[in-house]
Amino acid sequence: MLPESLLVRLRDARHVCVLTGAGVSAESGVPTFRDAQQGLWAQYDPMELATPEAFQRDPELVWRWYRWRRELVSKAEPNAGHRALAELQDLVPRLTLVTQNVDGLHQRAGSRDVIEFHGNIFSNRCFARCNDDRLVDRDDATVPACPDCGAPARPGVVWFGEGIPEVALNASFAAAADCDVFLSVGTSSIVYPAAGLGTIAHESGAMTVEVNPNPTEQSGGFTSTLRDNAAVILPKLIELLAH
Ligand code: OAD
Repeated sequence: MLPESLLVRLRDARHVCVLTGAGVSAESGVPTFRDAQQGLWAQYDPMELATPEAFQRDPELVWRWYRWRRELVSKAEPNAGHRALAELQDLVPRLTLVTQNVDGLHQRAGSRDVIEFHGNIFSNRCFARCNDDRLVDRDDATVPACPDCGAPARPGVVWFGEGIPEVALNASFAAAADCDVFLSVGTSSIVYPAAGLGTIAHESGAMTVEVNPNPTEQSGGFTSTLRDNAAVILPKLIELLAH
């Protein structure tokens, strides 16, 4: 059952911040990263696929892997958890949705102004960074060349060892520090700086809630933990909030 205190705080909130991770897309059939067995990092070595060095070493391998994930994600549909977060945006005065996911499912569910903390798998950009704003709109079977400088194009996602896009970073930190309620949904809270947002919110006086069927390293730091799937809890939350 959902704590009455959460509903009271949500009804009074002027600003709600939500951080999502791969768990919110799990019920859309998109693999998470660290769930045992079926998680991506249980099958693949992130250092072999999700770093600039890996791309430098074998761009075709990395490109093919992201193309495989892109095809998988494009077949997925937003689930009830995504849709509930899209509805939440119209039930509170201000909602900041920060996602670590690169699958674009929040936007397809109707969420607006989504902060893509780790980029988007459907965008590509120049590996030589000749123009970070130019997206290379290609989905070739092999690595395409940047149309401006001829260097290889790369997936527009954040890799290990890379910085978070500055605008996304600043907006997310500001929202965590300003919000009245912070929901952490479907993330293992392992990868920083995203994993630090909950602590910022908590230290700024927000009510912080973890929505995850499993405990995480940060569970003890939340005001409340809701141990079930996002697609179960979030629609219930919206149902109670809307009535
Ligand atoms: P993880 O795979 O690390 O964690 C997924 C979390 O979702 C776990 O804590 C699961 O218990 C939880 N979970 C699974 N099914 C769920 C469901 N139906 N509802 C709610 N929660 C569920 O994925 P992330 O925390 O998103 O980084 O990983 C963070 C980052 O690590 C990713 O963005 C990626 C990865 O390396 C980059 O791409 C830079």
